[in-house]
Amino acid sequence: MFLIVFPILVLLGASLQPANGQVFNPIQYGAKGDGISDDTAAVRAALAAAASNNGGEVLFDAPFAFLTGCFNVTSNVILNVKGTILASQDSSNYVQIEPLPWYGGGQDAQLSGNLEWQPVVRSYKASNITITGGGTIDGQGAPWWTCLHRGNDSEHLVGAPCNGISRPNLIMLVYTTDVTIYDITLKDSPSWTTHLAYCTNVHISHVTVLAPWDSPNTDGFDIDCCVNVLLENSFYSGGDDAIAVQSGMDYFGRTFGRTTENVIIRNMTIERSHGLSIGSEMSAGIRNVTFENISVNGSDAGVKIKSQRGRGAFVQNVTYTNIRLYNVKVAIYLTHNYHQNLPPRNATATPQFSDFNINGIYSNGAEYGWFLDGLPESYIGHVSFADITLENTSQLFEYCRYIYGSCVDVKPSCPPCL
Ligand SMILES: *[C@@H]1O[C@H](CO)[C@@H](O)[C@H](O)[C@H]1NC(C)=O
Ligand SMILES: *[C@@H]1O[C@H](CO)[C@@H](O)[C@H](O)[C@H]1NC(C)=O
Ligand SMILES: *[C@@H]1O[C@H](CO)[C@@H](O)[C@H](O)[C@H]1NC(C)=O
Ligand SMILES: *[C@@H]1O[C@H](CO)[C@@H](O)[C@H](O)[C@H]1NC(C)=O
Ligand SMILES: *[C@@H]1O[C@H](CO)[C@@H](O)[C@H](O)[C@H]1NC(C)=O
Ligand SMILES: *[C@@H]1O[C@H](CO)[C@@H](O)[C@H](O)[C@H]1NC(C)=O
Ligand SMILES: *[C@@H]1O[C@H](CO)[C@@H](O)[C@H](O)[C@H]1NC(C)=O
Ligand SMILES: *[C@@H]1O[C@H](CO)[C@@H](O)[C@H](O)[C@H]1NC(C)=O
Ligand SMILES: *[C@@H]1O[C@H](CO)[C@@H](O)[C@H](O)[C@H]1NC(C)=O
Ligand SMILES: *[C@@H]1O[C@H](CO)[C@@H](O)[C@H](O)[C@H]1NC(C)=O
Repeated sequence: MFLIVFPILVLLGASLQPANGQVFNPIQYGAKGDGISDDTAAVRAALAAAASNNGGEVLFDAPFAFLTGCFNVTSNVILNVKGTILASQDSSNYVQIEPLPWYGGGQDAQLSGNLEWQPVVRSYKASNITITGGGTIDGQGAPWWTCLHRGNDSEHLVGAPCNGISRPNLIMLVYTTDVTIYDITLKDSPSWTTHLAYCTNVHISHVTVLAPWDSPNTDGFDIDCCVNVLLENSFYSGGDDAIAVQSGMDYFGRTFGRTTENVIIRNMTIERSHGLSIGSEMSAGIRNVTFENISVNGSDAGVKIKSQRGRGAFVQNVTYTNIRLYNVKVAIYLTHNYHQNLPPRNATATPQFSDFNINGIYSNGAEYGWFLDGLPESYIGHVSFADITLENTSQLFEYCRYIYGSCVDVKPSCPPCL
């Protein structure tokens, strides 16, 4: 893990060193950078030139704003965003892509085989990619949020720009190794903001993610079927999970079989959010995850590990430590019954949770202190709760069942079912 950290610290301290010193500027490929003209072709041309050079710096300079559809980032590219990238709101500037095999369908219509609009920034089978520059990538997500909700449940995604296809992520890096994302603001994503899918050796630092609190599925950081991830020193305020550690859904995730492991998330500041989450998609297993030194203010949940019958696989060896929670709905939420009103799709696969170390939690003003809900056929096992203080909680326990472990130094009192 830390092998990846040291080169990055060097990179942070030094000036950027692109391959062959080459800089590719969309302005030189005909971009206007006025935030109004469609710069899609010029932006793609600059990235294509970097690709044929086997990498280099693609410079989105200040004070320009580049209005563009989706594009691909290839190996050895530094995306240096000093100005602004404005994501097009016209789906004709996007390409339809196949959904990830471990979900079985597009994100807004999982299991139906629905296609997805290509993420605004995407890599596929690449290595050594950096996204930085101090500027902003603005997903301009509002019309995508509206078309998701238009119509009733059976006809969501109706109308432009969705046009029946799942919304794009803002950044999605797929099968990519050696990734650095630092010093950048990511705003108003149409859907998930940063989706790391089957990535290895990732360092994210000093990233600010912003979206309205009621924007649908604007997760901050989705760490999905990845190994060796360090996410730190970043800020999130948005409409869904600030952080979600995942590994695929049900049969598709189990068949693909890529476990997420060795993840550290630390020194984060979270405002509006649905939580510091693991799951509910975890069907290839998740292990060895640490959340450390995180403050959350005004969120649905704090600590949140979620799964349901049908997912199968495991979540094990997870630590949450030194977490401060203010005004969250549920402080500590562990459940095997997420979406409990839906019947399990492949009912025989039972998820297993074990070896959770939850210590050093301070909460003030939670609506519920604890929500602990295992399954009679699969207890949440070997949980250690220590040094936990819950102040001004409206109701201390919501559920407390099918869980075992230890509990010490908890105020006002340990969960009664332990
Ligand atoms: C991005 O790459 C994928 C292949 O991985 C390709 O299908 C798609 O058309 C490319 N998108 C653009 C905008 O060139
Ligand atoms: C990574 O990409 C940068 C930018 O093109 C380049 O300077 C560097 O040499 C690359 N690193 C490796 C290990 O290839
Ligand atoms: C929902 O959409 C379906 C299919 O278009 C339609 O048959 C049904 O009447 C709609 N229901 C409501 C409550 O609008
Ligand atoms: C924590 O992150 C903030 C940025 O959000 C940064 O200013 C601060 O230096 C970080 N603290 C440590 C100990 O790295
Ligand atoms: C259920 O599992 C079977 C194989 O065991 C698979 O063929 C099928 O696609 C799965 N269905 C769903 C909805 O996951
Ligand atoms: C767990 O993850 C940490 C941090 O990524 C890593 O240093 C450690 O080696 C991992 N442990 C195992 C057993 O893989
Ligand atoms: C469990 O997590 C701790 C803390 O991250 C780590 O040091 C250890 O290596 C992990 N062990 C396994 C078996 O993953
Ligand atoms: C976490 O915060 C404590 C102070 O609250 C500090 O001593 C410790 O170094 C921090 N750890 C990390 C990994 O940032
Ligand atoms: C939490 O947010 C509220 C509303 O923005 C603010 O008034 C309060 O001071 C914050 N609390 C902490 C501990 O940051
Ligand atoms: C929380 O409770 C403490 C007493 O335990 C009280 O002093 C404090 O004012 C309360 N804070 C809030 C935000 O209600």
